[in-house]
Amino acid sequence: MAVRNFRWILREVAFVAVLLHLSQYTVNSVQASVIKTPQEYYRKNTAYSGTQEQSQSVPFNKLHLQADIRQTLDQCSGRNRFDCYPEKTNPPVQDCKARGCCLTRIHGDKGTQSCHYPLDYDGYRVVSLSPLKQVNATVGWNVTMTRTSSSPYPKDIKTLQLLVLYETTYRLRFKIFDPAVQRYEVPVDLHDQDSPTPEELTDFHVIFEKDPFSISIVRKSDAQPLFDSKGMAPLIFADQYIQIGSRLASPLLYGLGEHRSRLALDVKGRQKLVFWNRDQPPEENLNLYGTHPFYLNLEADNRTAHGVFLLNSNAMQVELQPLNNQGPETGSITYRVLGGILDFFVFSGPSSEDVVRQYVSLIGQSFMPPFWSLGFHLCKHGYGNSSEFWKVIQRNREAKMPYDVQWNDLDYSAGNKIWTWDNETYRGLPEIIKDLHDHGQHNVIIVDPGISSSQPKGTYPPFDEGLELGLFVKDASGKPFIGKVWPGDTAFVDFFHHKTFDYWLKFIGLFHGVLPFDGLWIDMNEPSNFINGSVNGCTNSSLDHPPFVPPGIDGGTMYSRTVCPSAQHQQSSHYNLHNLYGWSETIITSQILRVLSRKRPFVLTRSTAFGSGTYAAHWTGDNLSSFPDLAFSISSILNSNIFGMSMVGADICGFRGNAKRELCIRWMQLGAFYPFMRNHAEGYSAPQDPGWFDSEAQDIMRAALHTRYSLLPYIYTRYYISHTTASPAIRPLFFDFPGTELIDAQFLWGSELLVSPVVQEGARTVKAYIPKGACFFDLDTLTLLGVPGGDWYTLDAPLEKINVHVKGGSILPMLPPAVTTTLARQGKMELLVAPDLISMPVTASGQLFWDDGESIDTVRQMQFTLINFTLNETTLTSDVQAKSYSPVTLGKVTVMAVESAPPKVMLNGQKVNFTYDTKSRVLMVSELTWNLLVPFELTW
Ligand code: NOJ
Repeated sequence: MAVRNFRWILREVAFVAVLLHLSQYTVNSVQASVIKTPQEYYRKNTAYSGTQEQSQSVPFNKLHLQADIRQTLDQCSGRNRFDCYPEKTNPPVQDCKARGCCLTRIHGDKGTQSCHYPLDYDGYRVVSLSPLKQVNATVGWNVTMTRTSSSPYPKDIKTLQLLVLYETTYRLRFKIFDPAVQRYEVPVDLHDQDSPTPEELTDFHVIFEKDPFSISIVRKSDAQPLFDSKGMAPLIFADQYIQIGSRLASPLLYGLGEHRSRLALDVKGRQKLVFWNRDQPPEENLNLYGTHPFYLNLEADNRTAHGVFLLNSNAMQVELQPLNNQGPETGSITYRVLGGILDFFVFSGPSSEDVVRQYVSLIGQSFMPPFWSLGFHLCKHGYGNSSEFWKVIQRNREAKMPYDVQWNDLDYSAGNKIWTWDNETYRGLPEIIKDLHDHGQHNVIIVDPGISSSQPKGTYPPFDEGLELGLFVKDASGKPFIGKVWPGDTAFVDFFHHKTFDYWLKFIGLFHGVLPFDGLWIDMNEPSNFINGSVNGCTNSSLDHPPFVPPGIDGGTMYSRTVCPSAQHQQSSHYNLHNLYGWSETIITSQILRVLSRKRPFVLTRSTAFGSGTYAAHWTGDNLSSFPDLAFSISSILNSNIFGMSMVGADICGFRGNAKRELCIRWMQLGAFYPFMRNHAEGYSAPQDPGWFDSEAQDIMRAALHTRYSLLPYIYTRYYISHTTASPAIRPLFFDFPGTELIDAQFLWGSELLVSPVVQEGARTVKAYIPKGACFFDLDTLTLLGVPGGDWYTLDAPLEKINVHVKGGSILPMLPPAVTTTLARQGKMELLVAPDLISMPVTASGQLFWDDGESIDTVRQMQFTLINFTLNETTLTSDVQAKSYSPVTLGKVTVMAVESAPPKVMLNGQKVNFTYDTKSRVLMVSELTWNLLVPFELTW
């Protein structure tokens, strides 16, 4: 498990403090020749004893009040007001003043007053600054700063250390922490942490201000500030409240999840985001299932971008706001973090894709999914019993739906207890799973992290053994923490416990002997709890009642429908680890499946954090069967891809409520282009599997599935690219086309496919933006979309159609569709060639990655075939980069926009049969049986 093994990255570095003469900075007290070991700077964190645990709950307005109450006009007149009372709007006058802050009536808003920091609010001052040296090169900075006054929050850390490290050319890290006391740090192994880079080889320039302290990180090449705390919300570093702000380069900001909203965050509308994982049906302005404190910010030119990641797993709130500047429109971001340290990474881009790749290379690239998991998945909570379950399988087979994976939700278990099977209600389930396997299909079952704690002793080994091993999360008094989930009273497995791997392995292994599932669905792992805290409530400690509870936390308390933050894991408090609970379960579960099956694991997790995409797929939770939910799903899956979780989908047709026919048709069409395609509903919902609908609806759904299945080799190759280069599988349009920054009802697969679904009820056309500078071909008709681009166009979208366009310049590897991925793989490969008609000469390119689709580490072990395809005018060639997997046979080539019927078509000098359609101008060369491991040249 990738739990903390925080290797010091500057092992070879000698640190020498020297006096510096930066233009903005002079140091009053000079630290002469202080040599410290690296460990003293970035301390190893095996035995954490953070001060948070010892904090007492004291009403903060009785503490640490600023002596001087600034109400003078000049100090309060700043045009940019940073909230000094984030706990509530309209705080009582005396409470605001007691914090030394300004109270200003908000213009035009009767009765609302803003409590904001004065311009000269007291903060930290730098007392020493020195470079970190490796040999003779500067690889970072070491800064000490202090404050004398108190912030509004208890337990200010009066002396702070800041370490800046130039990690790579495009990545800078800075860390602010307490040099005297080890605080909690995120127990995650980061990737790509070899050695620092000399400052002169990087893209960064760092500027410090002394009093008050601020840090500005600037991109050298164009002087663009990438992180700039100067003049923003003041730095506060108290035990349970850490605040820092930064100026944004523009209001075009993305990421910061998991949340529901439009893709571009609302800086002007002062959007607030809260990270405290929660079992919460996706709704705007609430904390949801995952934590990803990473953002991508476009700069004033709308093309250049940078990114910022805060490596911190404590609860936090992030507030965005516009800035009143004279110059280009900007904004600010304020972080309010409830613990840990500030550990920032800045990525210099300069393209949006570069930013995502730089971030994802750090947290871990997307896993390589088993090929079967690219197919269509079907699920429902509460099929009722095995005969109803069997009927669903049968009717979808009979309807000849491409359909790969049948899932089992919790109703397969006895009394909702994991690792049990209700062999009365679900009699014959093992045989049904065997039947799925016989048909080349697969099965995934659900498991929850809550273990029933109320069974008679000796009857339920998962609880008895977990108890004996002491691996359940403990309450503040050291007893197993008991909440209530599906089976009633439950204990929660501590996935950070060193004995958990073997325990979880044992039960997964034993249960696989009962139900031979192919993948695991780990649900409810925020962790969800049906009561607030434990059956005995929570403590009065400051962990359960911190001085600042972000107002966006649904339920109003830190323990609302989850475990008490004062509960203890082996490594630290739940207060610190809550946001990593699902993440820790994901890693263990994926590793165990890998060990047990000796195949590529498939895990679907609801709760995620930075790096989850390396291990599992994700779905966006309990959405509603509604058109707005269908539309919002696009922003959610795009965000997940920005967070390095390529394999993601939303519950197709919606989880809650009844999906009407039209909605379900439109959602199946859109879902055919989700990276992860699963139709799932709750027990109360009417059936929504394709086989349940009338034959016309079935025909439309089947056609959407055929399109997906025909694109499987392309989709798989995109996963390979994502896995090996950290590039997202799907992306927003603005990654490739400036001027599209606000578009979030369309998206791109790689750079090749533009998907423009219908997201409104009753619509039979779709208003789609067609980018400029490229040509696009309709994937159904294979004809050129004859528009100049760079504008919005109304495209026909009758119920049976989803608009998908192939960008000119692409070559897509495809397969004839089949009812399972297993059968599809037996077909002959096809190439769809979309020439770039704008370039001269006419060109196109594409790639095929192919392996057995299930073995572990085929990429690392070079057990695959990789072929590049290139079109140059009327010649298509292949270039075999790797050929360790065979057979791969080419059966057909389809070329679009061929001006006229060619007299002949030659394959490596031999004439081959072809057809040419004068209307569509499509050249088709079928009936081929070319071994793709041998390079070819096709000319016409
Ligand atoms: C909550 C999950 O989000 C949902 O998908 C599942 O059906 C239920 N738990 C029941 O297991």
